[in-house]
This record gives sequence, structure tokens and C-alpha cells, in this order.
Amino acid sequence: MSQSSSLPASIDATLALLQGRGYVADRALATVLFLALRMKRPLLLEGEAGTGKTEIAKTLASALGRKLIRLQCYEGLDLASAVYEWNYAGQMMAIRLAEAGGATGDRDKLEADIFSEKYLVKRPLLQALEPQEGGPPILLIDELDRTDEAFEAFLLEVLADAQVTIPELGTIKAAEPPIVILTSNRTREIHDALKRRCLYHWVGYPDAARELAILKARAPNAPAKLAKQVVAFVQAIRKEELFKAPGVAETLDWASALVELDAVALDPALVSDTLGALLKYQDDIQAMQGSKVKELLDRVKTEAGR
Ligand SMILES: Nc1ncnc2c1ncn2[C@@H]1O[C@H](COP(=O)(O)OP(=O)(O)O)[C@@H](O)[C@H]1O
Ligand SMILES: [Mg+2]
Repeated sequence: MSQSSSLPASIDATLALLQGRGYVADRALATVLFLALRMKRPLLLEGEAGTGKTEIAKTLASALGRKLIRLQCYEGLDLASAVYEWNYAGQMMAIRLAEAGGATGDRDKLEADIFSEKYLVKRPLLQALEPQEGGPPILLIDELDRTDEAFEAFLLEVLADAQVTIPELGTIKAAEPPIVILTSNRTREIHDALKRRCLYHWVGYPDAARELAILKARAPNAPAKLAKQVVAFVQAIRKEELFKAPGVAETLDWASALVELDAVALDPALVSDTLGALLKYQDDIQAMQGSKVKELLDRVKTEAGR
């Protein structure tokens, strides 16, 4: 069942493609995404957590009918988890069985067998080089800032040549390179060498109009008035001095929580009681509780014309 679609032909078509899957992009993002697809360049998306970076790759994969292959980065990520490893237990078993069957005579054949694809465990980077149904897959290298620089250097090589060399097996090269999207929450800077290979886009918090559109797309059962107030409140709270400002993910969570409570409008008590859906640090919650919530809410309601 292949439902692959061709790449979008314009920036507007890119916007529409994402919008059709409930992803509300601004023009700058649609432009860089369009160009990355056109120019076959990896796209590096940086931004605060919860601003929709990971979701772009997922949306793109489903919109284009491509397989999504995700490499979630973390501290200590090694090649065995990112590229491939040998199924050691399986290889041992094959050797034992050969011995038991008295078939150890042909050592070369046995060696070729245990270092064949049969015992190769393919991890995301290797999978992304293989042909997939629907066309080259989307390779999402998520939260790259969590790995170390040695891994980044290796990744640079893989991206440059779209190939991986396995000493026992040879070089595996993609017939058509994958569409690569890298994300970073910017806990450290990504190396210039890697950045040079990529197109770059900073994914910022959406403005009020776009956040409302996102809310309508992702939490459609929130009453209109409530949705508007939620967005206005979140936009206001992001301007406050916070340890961690709420992302779009938190806006959606909060709206869903309020819908669960059958709320149709915000009031100070309701906001105070549900602040934990929006703010995830006790210091931030404490700073916003009480008179601060009321002050923000008054401002929001005046702006929204009640
Ligand atoms: N522009 C957007 N349109 C639709 N949904 C969005 C958008 N931005 C963020 N979201 C939603 O916010 C949530 C968090 O997004 P995610 O991609 O996980 O953030 P990040 O990877 O930047 O931390 C997801 O549920 C996603 O659906
Ligand atoms: Mg993410």
C-alpha cells in the first residue's frame, strides 16, 4: 500500500501540505522546508522545547507517504545503537550448530554466513539508507544537542556521503538519500561543520494568531472564547520572567485540561488550579500564583474585549 505523494511544488503548497495534517507553519518555516526538499539538504531546526520541531518531521512523513525513521539522541549514544550491531548471540548459535553438525570444515563459508545481513541488526541510520516503500524515508535525528561531538563528526560523514561502511560486509550506500531533519533544543551549540551542511531554521513560539490556529487544529473541542483566552494568557505569561516558558505542547495540554473541566472561560481560581498543565517548575508556579494570575488575566480580558 504505497500512498506516496510528490514533493510540494511551491511554498504555498508546502504550507497547505502541513496544514492538511493539522500542522500550522508560518511562511518562514514553509520556505526553508520547501527549499530543503528541493535542494536535498538536511534541515536543522533549533528552538525551545515544545515548539513543534519533532512534529514537523512526523507531519511531513505522513503527508508525503514516506516512512519516518527516528534516531532519538541521548548522552552516550553509540554507533551500535545508531547504525548497526551484530547479533552476537545468533552468531554464536550458528557456530555451535555448525560444530555440532560437524560442518566446521568450511570455515570461510561459516564466516561469510555469520557476517551476512542475516545477523546484522540495523539501527536507524542504516535503515535510512535502504530503499523504502514510497520513496526515500524521512530521517529524523531528534535532539542532536544531547549527543557528543564525536557522534556529530560521524554523522557528518554519513550525511555527506549517504553511506556507511561495515568492515565485515562492505559499504552500504543509499540509492537515493533520505530526507533529513535534525532538531536541537540548544542545550549546547551544534558544530559549525554540521551546520554548514544543513539549512537552518529557528522555531520560535508562535504569535497569537498562529497559536489560536494550532489550538483549533489540535484541540477543536475547546470553546472559541476559551481558546482565545487561553492563547492570550499563554502569550502574556511567556513575556514574564520564567525559568521555563510554556511551549505549544503546554498550551494544548492546558486547553485540554480546561475542556475536561467543562470550562468556557478563564477565571483566577481556575487558572491557579490548573497552572500545573502550563508551568512545570515549582518556582515558576509560585511566582505566578495569586495576584499575578489575576493581573495577567485582567490584562488578557481587556485586550480580548472580554
Ligand atoms: N505549528 C504547530 N502546528 C500544530 N501542532 C503543533 C505546532 N507546534 C507544536 N505543535 C504541537 O505541540 C506539541 C509539541 O511539539 P513537538 O514537536 O513535540 O515539540 P518539540 O519537538 O519542538 O519539543 C505536539 O503535540 C505538536 O502537535
Ligand atoms: Mg522534540
